[in-house]
Amino acid sequence: MRETERPPARRRFLTFAAALPASLGLSTLRANAQQAMIPTAPDMEGPFYISNMPVTATLNRWGKTGEAMRIAGQVLSAAEGNAPIAGAKLEIWQTDGRGVYHPEENGDYADFNDADLDMRGTVLADAMGRFDVLSVFPKEYWPRPPHIHYRISADGFATLITQHYLDTAPRERPHRTAQVIRDGSPAVFPAPTIYLTPL
Ligand SMILES: [Fe+2]
Repeated sequence: MRETERPPARRRFLTFAAALPASLGLSTLRANAQQAMIPTAPDMEGPFYISNMPVTATLNRWGKTGEAMRIAGQVLSAAEGNAPIAGAKLEIWQTDGRGVYHPEENGDYADFNDADLDMRGTVLADAMGRFDVLSVFPKEYWPRPPHIHYRISADGFATLITQHYLDTAPRERPHRTAQVIRDGSPAVFPAPTIYLTPL
């Protein structure tokens, strides 16, 4: 089984901070860019979101197969000053190293056996908005490159649902948004800085 979502090509090119809201005029964008970073672009939630997953230090809760990696990033306010968002809540889910979600269902944590819920979890940002969690490289499956799903929420900010596309073969995958650095064990996957929109 594979995730069946089929985003239009344009959607697959959306990146965390690069895409601009289509409703804004260029002049407005230029003015805003001088004041603050552009909010991170949303992307589809996709299937297989499980709400209320426990806080975890590793998404690979039950030891699935895959190349170990560490996801490290930061959550900042898109408002002027780009203040870190302390305690931002990141709900993260992805495939294992074989391209399979666990489970391939939607629902709430309470609806499942804990042992059936893997490659997902809740991660809390620290006082500087930084987050860090162990995982394994997700596997690509046609037509999608490897990706990681995020739902990011914090008091006073609009909840953001987006995706993070891995860069494992740049010439073959135009969807890349960040580089994978394999200089340690586990490899470090630097997630793009995430900018949330204040309410
Ligand atoms: Fe997905």
